[in-house]
Amino acid sequence: MQDNSHRHNEKALSSERLAAAGNVASEVAHELNTPLGGILIYSHLLLEDMPEGHEHRENIIKIVKLANRCKIIVKSLLDFAHTETLSLKKTQVNHVLKSTVYFMEGHVLLKNIRISYELDPDLPEIVVDENKLEQLFVNFIINAGEAMNNSGAIVLRSRPAPDGNGVIVQFSDTGCGISEKHLNRIFEPFFTTKERGKGTGLGLSICHGIVKLHGGNIEVDSVVGEGTTFTLFLSNPPKGTV
Ligand SMILES: Nc1ncnc2c1ncn2[C@@H]1O[C@H](COP(=O)(O)OP(=O)(O)OP(=O)(O)O)[C@@H](O)[C@H]1O
Ligand SMILES: [Mg+2]
Repeated sequence: MQDNSHRHNEKALSSERLAAAGNVASEVAHELNTPLGGILIYSHLLLEDMPEGHEHRENIIKIVKLANRCKIIVKSLLDFAHTETLSLKKTQVNHVLKSTVYFMEGHVLLKNIRISYELDPDLPEIVVDENKLEQLFVNFIINAGEAMNNSGAIVLRSRPAPDGNGVIVQFSDTGCGISEKHLNRIFEPFFTTKERGKGTGLGLSICHGIVKLHGGNIEVDSVVGEGTTFTLFLSNPPKGTV
């Protein structure tokens, strides 16, 4: 990208701060999960007993919708906190990239977005947790979709790491870009520039956690008004650990 691009390396994020945020997140999520389940059950019971056209029906429907929104946030918090256990196996990252896009086909955010690939056909397999990798890729693709206003392009790239022991994956979009002011905050838990109710600001924190667990690294380059590229460095775990 050009001279005015901003680069940020998330290595700078303090791991103690993230671990502390993870602990708080998991406690809050567990505490909220049960009462939230109760709110949903009881509001559904009320709805069942309420005849169509009842004056309180609309309000109960709103309660159900809002409680469902809370459930999504609690789920993100649990994802954020529960990234310690990995189920590792030899994986072809190109396949995971393709299957993730395939599984997201039809997503409303990607309706008018061109998605293309520049994948190295000789990419070596690496030992990773395939489900977590998919979760990681989904987050980058959704963020890219959200950064574009229903038109633009996403390019997914892969190549072997120069040290021969890993792969490099890139997600480039032609979206709004990230200002310098925000760039060093995007991996912080709960940091979001999206309007209330749209983003919880946990997507990239979850990505950061997943990449760290794989011993990897994320870099971001962005030009406001032009687009953003996230680069992931993923390596094989050290010998003897799998
Ligand atoms: N591809 C991108 N283009 C522009 N800005 C981005 C991109 N990816 C992330 N961001 C910025 O980083 C912020 C944090 O992203 P993150 O995924 O953590 O949270 P979110 O998308 O706001 O909410 P959530 O993912 O929880 O729904 C976003 O609010 C946005 O400002
Ligand atoms: Mg996000």
